[in-house]
Amino acid sequence: MTREIFPPNPNFSQEARVNSMDAYWRLQNQALEDYEGFWRGFADEKIEWLSPYEKVLDESKAPFYEWFTKGQLNVSNQCIDRHLATQADKTAILFEGDRGEVEHISYAQLSQRVNQMANLLKEELGVAKGDRVVLYMPMIPESAYAMLACARIGAIHSIVFGGFSAEALRDRIEDAGAKVVITADGAYRKGKPYMLKSVVDNALESGSTAVSSVLVVKRNHEEINWVEGRDKCYNDLIAHHSTVCPFEPMESEDPLFLLYTSGSTGKPKGVQHTTAGYILWAQMSMEWVFDVKGDDLFWCTADIGWITGHTYIIYGPLAAGTTTVMFEGVPTYPDAGRAWKMVEEHKITQFYTAPTAIRVLHKMGEDEPSKYDLSSLKVLGTVGEPIDPPAWKWYYESVGGSHCAIVDTWWQTETGGHMISPLPGATPIKPACATFPLPGIMAEVIDSDGTPKAVGETGLLCITKPWPSMIRTIWGDPERYTKAYFSDATKAGRPVYFSGDGAVRDEAGYITITGRVDDVINVSGHRMGTAEIEAVVNEDDSVAEVAVVARPHEIKGESIFIYIVLKEGHINTDIKNHINALLAQEIGNIAKADHIIEVPGLPKTRSGKIMRRILRSIAKHEEITQDISTLEDPSIVKRIETTAREA
Ligand code: WTA
Repeated sequence: MTREIFPPNPNFSQEARVNSMDAYWRLQNQALEDYEGFWRGFADEKIEWLSPYEKVLDESKAPFYEWFTKGQLNVSNQCIDRHLATQADKTAILFEGDRGEVEHISYAQLSQRVNQMANLLKEELGVAKGDRVVLYMPMIPESAYAMLACARIGAIHSIVFGGFSAEALRDRIEDAGAKVVITADGAYRKGKPYMLKSVVDNALESGSTAVSSVLVVKRNHEEINWVEGRDKCYNDLIAHHSTVCPFEPMESEDPLFLLYTSGSTGKPKGVQHTTAGYILWAQMSMEWVFDVKGDDLFWCTADIGWITGHTYIIYGPLAAGTTTVMFEGVPTYPDAGRAWKMVEEHKITQFYTAPTAIRVLHKMGEDEPSKYDLSSLKVLGTVGEPIDPPAWKWYYESVGGSHCAIVDTWWQTETGGHMISPLPGATPIKPACATFPLPGIMAEVIDSDGTPKAVGETGLLCITKPWPSMIRTIWGDPERYTKAYFSDATKAGRPVYFSGDGAVRDEAGYITITGRVDDVINVSGHRMGTAEIEAVVNEDDSVAEVAVVARPHEIKGESIFIYIVLKEGHINTDIKNHINALLAQEIGNIAKADHIIEVPGLPKTRSGKIMRRILRSIAKHEEITQDISTLEDPSIVKRIETTAREA
């Protein structure tokens, strides 16, 4: 597809906060000329400070940057209380259950429930400021109450996606040193109950966690195991707690939450976000990128277990005072028209989802959008992986009726919010292109030695100035933080944040993301490290060597491809099921591989380094163009190719 350009819809631009590229450049130039002044202006306008900050940006401990030092605020005030005077009755959360029931939760009701939950956590479970609380929750309003209740009392939440296994959950509980786990008996998916509490039980059964209580929300009322003394029933206790709980004044740099994510090495890392910078950018990016206002109804289909759910289901929309939709189910149940039916019924104005979901909905129900009135939609968004032009086109034409801007938002768990994205009222859009950095964000495509790449050349995508919502550290491992994100900084001659993604800029300055340049795999928008998967496979007694690579996948974007060398004398006839069961147990179903093949050896250099590039080519059935003469055993390549073809 040629790079056609789609100018913003003029009707939309008229009302938009940023309504032209001139307006965009005015903002960006303001940031370039006076970076701190730019951020000071927005921090003063957007945040309700309980006491003023001293410095906008403290770079003295770089790359451990501090923003709005010593200022005081509270995120639950920012998201709830400060809206009560003007919009107590406005719907804050519109919840739709898997089976179709709808609940409108007003800002006033949200306030009451969050206050009650905050009191429950403090009084019943002894949670205090700075304590870590792990959430292992379905997509129900109580998850939002729990997040905001933690923020209210200064506890640090760490949400673990409900698809992770007991082992993965335990690792995260232990690493965070959590005192309390909040979970649910389970919830509903595709019309049937599924369970979560049993996973928490298994996670806490062994190991050495500091967990003293488990708060259980009863959602599907299925039978569950109950540990007397440890387990507490939310439904029984909540009514006994007052709807008034004064919020804790928090400092700007106090941690707000941890969220574990995968890197190219080692175990998942606890990305630590802080209070002021995070909430400021959550709100600003919400306002700029989705341009929410008035009675808009914003629906982000992510799970709260991922960063997208944190920033664009809960914190961003509520800080911006908008109505956020929370959906328990899946968009393909009862049929592939479910999402569009919801858009029609609720008159959703902004819809934000992942390319994988768009590809599934396209494949399963190409004509479904035409059966519904989708005219309420104004902005469509995508996130999490590169979107391919055919999916983009269907989304634009069939879902957006060729009148909605598509904002292809590039960002990461570590960035806290959008970094590169079109602005719907300003940016002429090129399909499947993240376009320009948002105002205040300084992105560059550079070489590994720090020199900027020429137009049209793929390089490393970096952010060259600290920004308010950036990761502050990796929980308990500051060295890893420096190493993972800033280790090439010295090469660049300045502290530069390395994203791990590749990108290319065209002559007009448009940035297109080309995908990860490190050993991170992106399956349906879920990040997984090859090292993490290899470590699990290596635990198996029969495995001598393993290498994991990504293979392009029509729907999932990428899938996992595993090469295994068995130990001498070991025969495994059912290696695929065996290894996948292990991966499901140790990480979760999302880590299951599509391909697992047994090979006689791996392509290695004489110094023993595995040549993953060759393995990636073989997985794709590509011709090997790399020089293989330097391999320890060049003949291995042919033998692996033969096995891969037969598999
Ligand atoms: C990828 C999700 C292409 C990228 C918010 C990044 C994208 C990783 C896009 C972060 C996009 C995210 N186009 N690729 N618009 N958005 N990615 O931490 O590889 O779960 O590094 O955060 O997703 O994934 P994470």
